[in-house]
Amino acid sequence: MARDLSIKVNGINFENPFVIGSGPPGTNRATISKAFKEGWGGVVAKTISLDGSAVKNVAPRYGKLYARESGDVIGFQNIELISDRALDEWLKDFEAVKKEYPRKVLIASLMEAYDKSAWQRLTRTVCQTGVDALELNFSCPHGMPEKKMGSAMGQCPEVVKEVTRWVKEVSPVPVWAKMTPNIMDISVPSLEAIAGGADGISLINTILAVIGIDLKTLRPLPTVSGHSIPGGYSGQAIRPIALRHVLDLARALKTTKQEHITMSGIGGVECGKDALEFILMGCHTVQSCTAPMLQGFGMVEEMITTTQNFMQEHGFNSIEQFRGHSLSFFTTHAHLVELKQGKFEKGQVARDTEWSGDEIAKQTRNMSNN
Ligand SMILES: Cc1cc2nc3c(=O)[nH]c(=O)nc-3n(C[C@H](O)[C@H](O)[C@H](O)COP(=O)(O)O)c2cc1C
Repeated sequence: MARDLSIKVNGINFENPFVIGSGPPGTNRATISKAFKEGWGGVVAKTISLDGSAVKNVAPRYGKLYARESGDVIGFQNIELISDRALDEWLKDFEAVKKEYPRKVLIASLMEAYDKSAWQRLTRTVCQTGVDALELNFSCPHGMPEKKMGSAMGQCPEVVKEVTRWVKEVSPVPVWAKMTPNIMDISVPSLEAIAGGADGISLINTILAVIGIDLKTLRPLPTVSGHSIPGGYSGQAIRPIALRHVLDLARALKTTKQEHITMSGIGGVECGKDALEFILMGCHTVQSCTAPMLQGFGMVEEMITTTQNFMQEHGFNSIEQFRGHSLSFFTTHAHLVELKQGKFEKGQVARDTEWSGDEIAKQTRNMSNN
């Protein structure tokens, strides 16, 4: 029997926890509708602001990192800004999508300058369209920080709190704050967003990176008229880093007794297995942006089937039954040493004093689980 993947998050019913992350896959009515048609439970639309005409995007704005042997894309970088479309067009799109898909979850992503009236005007206007929730973009790491927006705000915990409070004062729907990983401890701004009233935290946005240099032209990538800037790194390469940030936040929520705050996990989710890892780490929903850009929206079918098979295999009847299951197995290094007492004595792994110069690859294999 197919397992039920439905969940309730911040009072909103999702038919499954799989959500399109803010970016090109949610850039207009047509792409959002297509995502819903293919079976995604929710979409976070591309980030918008009051004045789209002030946003100047460039092209090309994407770069890829390929696996040497398979040629698969393992990392992706963009220098894309927020949406350059007019707010009026967006408002019409939101209304139309909600009319067409009333049971699907549509989340608007907002960004503005450090200005209370701008944030509140944008919030009020967007909420009139019937969107189900808001995500506050405190995390875009390129372009927007030059204007003191995006991750420039997300790296100032007190600003995160203040802006979240401005939005919460006027928002009739739940608010998620989206965090930048370009910071020492993601739980610091997250806890400030919660203090400002955020109902949930989305994490992570992209990691500031330089994807590479073209060895023919000697110019950095992606190249715009011969020049570039560091951009946001995403895709499967960032998943382990994203999972670590989720762990840090989950621990902080536990310590501060705020486990009712929801987490939306983001970063390198390409398939059902990847999404399950985020749920096992305590995430309520899981977002994916780069993978649908590379594979198309139909990938959600495999995510649903894999999750159902996983639940059947383990005897879980609901997502809640395994959310956060793996968190309790993270411990301290001292505890690992205690648990591992005797392993060397039994001779299962050679001490490094015994390694010969020829067998480094063999010893590496010996010391890996997978
Ligand atoms: C081309 C591109 C554009 C993006 N634009 C936005 C955006 O407008 N707002 C936002 O909050 N995140 C944006 N993101 C970040 C993603 O939503 C996501 O946080 C990040 O890419 C990591 O997830 P992924 O590995 O599934 O892509 C963008 C990502 C990409 C690749």
